[in-house]
Amino acid sequence: MNNRNIVFETQINSLEFLYRGKVRDIYKIDDERLLVVQTDRLSAFDVVLPDPIPGKGCLLTELSVFWFQKLSHLIPNHWLDHSPKEFLTDGEFEQVDGRAMVVRRLKPLPVEAIVRGYLAGSGWKEYRNTGSICGIVLPPNLQQAQQLPQTIFTPSTKADLGDHDENIAFESVVKKIGQNYASRIREVSCKLYEEAATYALERGIIIADTKFEFGTDSDGELYLIDEALTSDSSRFWPQDKYAIGASPPSFDKQFVRDWLESTGWDKQSPPPCLPDDIAQKTSDKYKEALMLLTQ
Ligand SMILES: Nc1ncnc2c1ncn2[C@@H]1O[C@H](COP(=O)(O)OP(=O)(O)OP(=O)(O)O)[C@@H](O)[C@H]1O
Ligand SMILES: [Mg+2]
Repeated sequence: MNNRNIVFETQINSLEFLYRGKVRDIYKIDDERLLVVQTDRLSAFDVVLPDPIPGKGCLLTELSVFWFQKLSHLIPNHWLDHSPKEFLTDGEFEQVDGRAMVVRRLKPLPVEAIVRGYLAGSGWKEYRNTGSICGIVLPPNLQQAQQLPQTIFTPSTKADLGDHDENIAFESVVKKIGQNYASRIREVSCKLYEEAATYALERGIIIADTKFEFGTDSDGELYLIDEALTSDSSRFWPQDKYAIGASPPSFDKQFVRDWLESTGWDKQSPPPCLPDDIAQKTSDKYKEALMLLTQ
């Protein structure tokens, strides 16, 4: 990580500003390329918290690029191995150094491609209520955090700002993006997850679930976009603390979610400020995951 600045919002005037997501600021380089900057913003329960997690954007960038390189034999991805330096002033480059990616500009498919190998989070909730997730019927009597008999694809909608993503059945994905893309993103998401999960387990990390996004180019070619297999988009559990029947400690934002829940915040009104030690501990956890996975 070569950038020690905290970046909550970027200020870049050399490029056209396109979009501020919950975590990423996006600028146009030209018709084919974007500059995606991972800021230190953290969203939990689909709301952006008022305080940054120091260095998180750099940690996410490094981990995503690691996976983009490692998994590129399974599907092409949007990452272009170009330095953003030539498009920015020195000051702007310093601001985003280590947290910016030059990527192919693609058309995002309006689906969050979630894959699960273990029962946790909204998947666990849905299973407890219905015995299934996204219409996939699972064996009875599974426990919280239990490994599933096989990887399952449990897509959700990409909600607009302020809305919550909703789990949807595979048929709804087919309706949104067509049978061909739906089948292909299901297949490749499971493959990406399984290869990454096997690798991570050798390094003591269980990837319980993760979310991918895909986009298409003007020829209809499919690409992996956004971020890949980070602590923001996945549940990472330390294998040595894993036990069935309880929510394991984690290297991801579950830590912040748990703290938020403990404050009694109603998840509607503006979220509370994060105490410094919670923000720093979250940053440390993200860093530990990056180190374990990449060194
Ligand atoms: N290569 C790409 N081409 C076009 N759009 C991309 C690309 N990679 C990522 N995106 C889009 O950029 C945005 C990333 O920003 P961020 O993750 O902060 O947004 P978000 O709050 O999750 O918003 P959204 O709900 O729109 O995804 C996402 O909308 C994502 O789909
Ligand atoms: Mg996003």
